Order: sequence, then C-alpha cells, then structure tokens
Amino acid sequence: MKTRITELFNIQHPIIQGGMHYVAFAELASAVSNAGGLGIITGLTQKTPEDLSQEIARCREMTDKPFGVNLTFLPTVTSPDYPGYIKAIIKGNVKIVETAGRNPQAYLPVMKDAGIKVIHKCTSVRHAQKAESIGCDAVSVDGFECGGHPGEDDIPNMILLPRAAEELKIPFVASGGMADARSLVASLALGAEGINMGTRFIATKEAPVHENVKQAIVSATELDTRLIMRPLQNTERVLRNIAVDRLLEKESSLGKDLKFEDIIEEVAGVYPKIMMEGAMDAGAWSCGMVAGLIHDIPTCETLINRIMSEAEMLIRNRLAGMINLN
Ligand SMILES: Cc1cc2nc3c(=O)[nH]c(=O)nc-3n(C[C@H](O)[C@H](O)[C@H](O)COP(=O)(O)O)c2cc1C
Repeated sequence: MKTRITELFNIQHPIIQGGMHYVAFAELASAVSNAGGLGIITGLTQKTPEDLSQEIARCREMTDKPFGVNLTFLPTVTSPDYPGYIKAIIKGNVKIVETAGRNPQAYLPVMKDAGIKVIHKCTSVRHAQKAESIGCDAVSVDGFECGGHPGEDDIPNMILLPRAAEELKIPFVASGGMADARSLVASLALGAEGINMGTRFIATKEAPVHENVKQAIVSATELDTRLIMRPLQNTERVLRNIAVDRLLEKESSLGKDLKFEDIIEEVAGVYPKIMMEGAMDAGAWSCGMVAGLIHDIPTCETLINRIMSEAEMLIRNRLAGMINLN
C-alpha cells in the first residue's frame, strides 16, 4: 500500500509502532521495521544519551530498515538531557523522530538540520495544527481511546480524525484504538494515511516484556481501562488493577487537594517491575481500550501481514462490493 506516510518514511506498510516506556526496545522496533512497518525505540527508557546510542546500535544490528526514536517531552521538574538524546539520535544516523508531550519547537531546527523527519503525536486538532505550523513533517493523531496520555479534551477518533483531515495539509496517522485491518481501512476512510499502534504491539512475540503483561492484554476487555491523574491534568489511560483502584480511591477522597506525592507509590518507577518482572499489581501502566480487540500474541510479521492482506480484502470485496450495483 502506498500512502503519503509510506513515502515520507520510506516504509512498505503504513503501520507505525508508537514509543512505549519499557516496551519499545530494539527488539520490538527492529521486528516492526523488518516486517515493513516503522519501529520506534523509546528514547527516555534509556537512562542516558550514551545508553540510547547503544540501543540504536543494537537496533541497527537487527534491521537494515528505517526505524525511529521517540522523544517524550515530559512535564517533569528536572528535565531530561534532551539535547544529549538528540545528539545520540543524530550520531546514530536515525532519520525519524516521534515527538510527544510538549511542543517540540525548541528542538526542531537541530533535527531538521540533520535531515530528520519529525512526526509529532498529539491529542487535539489545535495541537496538530501547531505542529504543522512549526514545521513537523507529519502528525500522529491520538484519540481518546488511546493507551497512555489522551489529553483532556476526550474526543474519540471517529470525530478527531475527520476533523484533523479538515484542517491539516501534512499527512497524519490515526493513533489510539488501532488493532487490525478494520482499524486501518476505517482510518484511511476518515482521512488518515496510516495507523500508529501501541497496546496491540505489546501483545506480540517480539515485545521484550514479561509474559504476564501480554496475557493481561489478551484477557482484558474494552471495559477494563481507567483514566487516572485527571485532577492533575495529566490524564493517563491504564489497565485496571489493585494499584489503580487504590489510586482512584485516593483521587476521590482527596478531591481538589490531590497532589502528585499522594499517588507516587502507584505511578513512580513502576514500569520496570511490571514490564520486566511481570508484577501486574505493582502500579498503573498505560493500556488502551483496544485491549478488547486483542485476542492473540502473534509475531510482528504475522500481525502486520494479516492487517495488510485483510485490509486489501476489505477494500476490494466488502467495500467495493457495496457500490457494485449490477
Ligand atoms: C505501555 C505503554 C507505554 C507508553 N509509553 C509512551 C511513551 O513513553 N511516550 C509516548 O509518546 N507514548 C507512549 N505510549 C503511547 C503509545 O505510543 C501510543 O500512542 C498509544 O499506545 C496508542 O494507543 P493504543 O494503545 O490504543 O494503540 C505508551 C503506550 C503504552 C500502552
């Protein structure tokens, strides 16, 4: 399939694997890229720019296809060494960066000078327009369904994607709630040029996370996610567990007085315990409603090939058949 996204990133299929903390290591990114999609390493999971350099080198050993690095601009007190991470990306000759969180404007000139294509992930039309106006090459439009941070507007993709199509000139991919060929074909119909998937790619053979995480996703339904940290204006969609229930009780009892320190036990530093050790109640971890559509743990190649072949059948048979009036 050829779209403006496959052309922009020089990839075979319009399928991107979004950056994911403690999930998107070289193993997953290279597997997605080898399958013809775009794999992305999560920059900040690497503790230092030197660690990121090594992770990029590991990924290069596993694939000769294009892959990217995610840079998440966090609302943290002590800012990570973003210039250092960008130097590691440039030194590693990575030509695609997925930015997320805050406005990446301050770092765009240095990335553009290095010939890097930037896809900014955002959750509203106004932020997507801003990304376009500051020179991003593409955007990932992340709907309310998404795992991770859906923002505070709560607009689902059925509205958000066509609204983005009305306003944007640069290409965009649909993110949040994407799992299969139906997601891809629907997204293309709504104006997107491809899809970005997070949760779906965790439940794959190559995702280097504990088996418990993959099983939790397969077992979950679309009813099993919760929104946390809304009172802190840092809303995150996570899979419900004991820690999440405890956190939500604190949110409702403390109300407006809630501070980050009150929920630190449930959210700070929990990812290694969950993703590496499989301690599923150790804290809150991002997961999309799309878990309800995930029923197996295929390889990335099987998953991507299945999406592409079923998408072709959907378009050629189901959709074309509906307008064939003879
Ligand atoms: C476990 C997990 C960790 C994530 N970590 C990050 C991250 O560090 N940076 C980021 O930009 N997005 C992160 N995301 C969001 C994904 O890149 C992607 O935008 C999102 O998962 C799309 O929604 P979906 O899960 O419905 O596919 C994370 C998502 C999950 C599920």
